[in-house]
Amino acid sequence: MSLENKVAIITGAARGIGYAVAKRFVMDGAKVVIADVDDEAGQSAVDDLKKIGEVTYVHCNVAERLDVRNLVAETLNAYGDVDVLVNNAGIVVGADFLELEEDDFDRVLSINLKGTFLCSQAVARHMVEKVQNGGEPGTIINMSSINAVLAIPNQIPYCVSKGGMSQLTKTTALALAPHGIRVNAIGPGSIMTDMLASVNNDPAARNRILSRTPMERVGEPSEIAGVAAFLASPDASYVTGQTIYADGGRLPLNYTVAVPDAD
Ligand SMILES: NC(=O)c1ccc[n+]([C@@H]2O[C@H](COP(=O)([O-])OP(=O)(O)OC[C@H]3O[C@@H](n4cnc5c(N)ncnc54)[C@H](O)[C@@H]3O)[C@@H](O)[C@H]2O)c1
Repeated sequence: MSLENKVAIITGAARGIGYAVAKRFVMDGAKVVIADVDDEAGQSAVDDLKKIGEVTYVHCNVAERLDVRNLVAETLNAYGDVDVLVNNAGIVVGADFLELEEDDFDRVLSINLKGTFLCSQAVARHMVEKVQNGGEPGTIINMSSINAVLAIPNQIPYCVSKGGMSQLTKTTALALAPHGIRVNAIGPGSIMTDMLASVNNDPAARNRILSRTPMERVGEPSEIAGVAAFLASPDASYVTGQTIYADGGRLPLNYTVAVPDAD
């Protein structure tokens, strides 16, 4: 088990991609802290995953510095260490450019981008201290998106946040490389979670997605968890500052592909 006895914090892990990463990490032997704002879903995730391994829930709004500080303290209290941080918490607010509210712009940026910075800095302080005391360096994984590169006109703050995450991943990787701490990102394409539900229930929207997906299907959260497991493992020991796009071929595609069962 590649993550045997490692301690991992995963934000936004009460459901969706974060939950799949938590499940994979527990299966790979890690002790996992699920950090989320949805306490009910978080507790239910813990109840499920406790059947297969060690897992605990901490309430944490990643946009709040004191919550983040408490998250690291609770993790150290429970498990004595943090080896892996997955910055997965994220939200989408759709609005036309001319209608977009300032508060919505700020909210998305503060959760998706500033939250990643706050969690990374708080965890990195612990990781650097550990390295200075002779311990093993840890690793950080940011959940980016193909929207770090591709733009959607009515998802402005989301695309901006993921574009920023690309540079945040690189700058953090360079800052922490001298300590042996690796920082990478995953850029999922369209993945079957609640975030995608509205699109997936609308045949026209689904066909638009599939016409831009050479693999002719949306991805499963477990397929993103597999990339996270690789990046967290010693197999990725020389990989840092990268974003791995798991998108069924969308980014390399110019034009569109035929959708087999389109109406
Ligand atoms: N689903 C996709 O197609 C897709 C594609 C590309 C990238 N992503 C990224 O993957 C990540 C997870 O997406 P998902 O589809 O699983 O979303 P989701 O909406 O299913 O789950 C997001 C989780 O984050 C939690 N959360 C929201 N705000 C939070 C906050 N302030 N602090 C802590 N937790 C908070 C929610 O309670 C929820 O449990 C996001 O960063 C998203 O941008 C998703």
